[in-house]
Amino acid sequence: MNSTRILLVFGTRPEAIKMLPLVKVLAAEPALEVRVCVTAQHRQMLDQALELFGVRPDYDLDLMTAAQGLEQITTAVLTGLSTILDAWRPDRVLVHGDTATAMAASLAAFYKKIPVGHVEAGLRSGDPLQPWPEEVNRRLIDVIADQFYTPTAETRDNLLREGARRDAVYLTGNTVIDALLMMADRVEGEPGLAERLADSFSYLEPDLPLLLVTGHRRENFGQPLLDICAAIAELARTHRLQVVYPIHPNPNVQGPVRQVLAGVPHVHLVEPLDYLPFVYLMKRSHAILTDSGGIQEEAPALGKPVFVTRNVTERPEAVAAGTVELVGTDQRTIVERVGRVFTPAGAHERMARRINPYGDGRASRRIADILVGRKMKEFEP
Ligand code: UD1
Ligand code: UDP
Repeated sequence: MNSTRILLVFGTRPEAIKMLPLVKVLAAEPALEVRVCVTAQHRQMLDQALELFGVRPDYDLDLMTAAQGLEQITTAVLTGLSTILDAWRPDRVLVHGDTATAMAASLAAFYKKIPVGHVEAGLRSGDPLQPWPEEVNRRLIDVIADQFYTPTAETRDNLLREGARRDAVYLTGNTVIDALLMMADRVEGEPGLAERLADSFSYLEPDLPLLLVTGHRRENFGQPLLDICAAIAELARTHRLQVVYPIHPNPNVQGPVRQVLAGVPHVHLVEPLDYLPFVYLMKRSHAILTDSGGIQEEAPALGKPVFVTRNVTERPEAVAAGTVELVGTDQRTIVERVGRVFTPAGAHERMARRINPYGDGRASRRIADILVGRKMKEFEP
């Protein structure tokens, strides 16, 4: 029997974290021949994830530059992938989410008339400019794709409302929960690992509650990011807490964050963390302040309150459940809302409920079932 050729294409940290569990599961399927192409839209942050999961890509477009523009990424993916698609002729290309890599890779596959499967399909914020350009990227991919692996009932329904075929839309859950549970199991099960991770954060004060912070959205560059940082500085000065902020390497983020927060007592500015120590820190945190998509999905599974520095989100499920709160970028609002969970009045307990709207750790297995034509039992949130 001829095997089905599957090419997975990804390039940034979050795509890698969410695609690598799938790579592992698909590679174990005898009916599939699996190859991985990384665009390296991210370099160091991608390599961190590849190393952690022990995956060596078959193709590497190595396209990252220090001040890359969206046009540059898009054209480099299109031309780079064209050669690979001609040479290997996969039966299907899998892309993930909403990055420039995912959008351009799905277009490259379309130009060769190769079917595209969209992992994490159907997310919609409703506003083409928030997040920008991701909201439009994910819509473009869903015009091209012919199989949709959706994380939640809401995302499935978004696609059906837009006219996707019912038999092309699968409710699988999000592979990010597969990745998260793999790491959380390692932290708990691997002898000595939790102690080694604790040692690597020996600068943290054991009894001071932790606010973990990340941020990188393009629409927050400039004044909004400065305002968020001013809020973090004020929180650190006025509340009993400590902050760890792994700063995204984008110069548009590094500059303002260091300008406002360098030297502020109880604020630790660090390089982007490997996924394993980052999961450890999420577990150790009291609350998280972020504009990240992935962290909005992971933190609720760990029972951690998340404050999202955005005005809209394409991940409304945990907001509805009360674990995630949108706080925008206004300094006063952030200080007031985040400050509440660091006071003894009980706001933390109300938000810190462990919920799993985004997956059960079996999303990759379900996608494998679909690809080999096995019966698949959908995710039930
Ligand atoms: C990209 C995605 C965004 C995703 C985010 C995850 C698009 C349009 N944006 O945004 O959807 O949420 O990744 O982090 O696809 N850099 C490094 N080393 C790295 C990674 C980045 O130095 O390992 C620096 C480079 O200077 C690079 C810059 O960051 O030019 C921006 O990277 P880019 O991928 O263009 O944008 P992100 O903001 O990371
Ligand atoms: N993450 C990480 N190290 C860090 C910050 C984040 O491993 O220092 C992980 C995080 O747990 C999540 C993913 O990176 O799985 C999110 O990536 P990012 O916020 O860059 O992108 P987004 O999810 O917003 O697209």
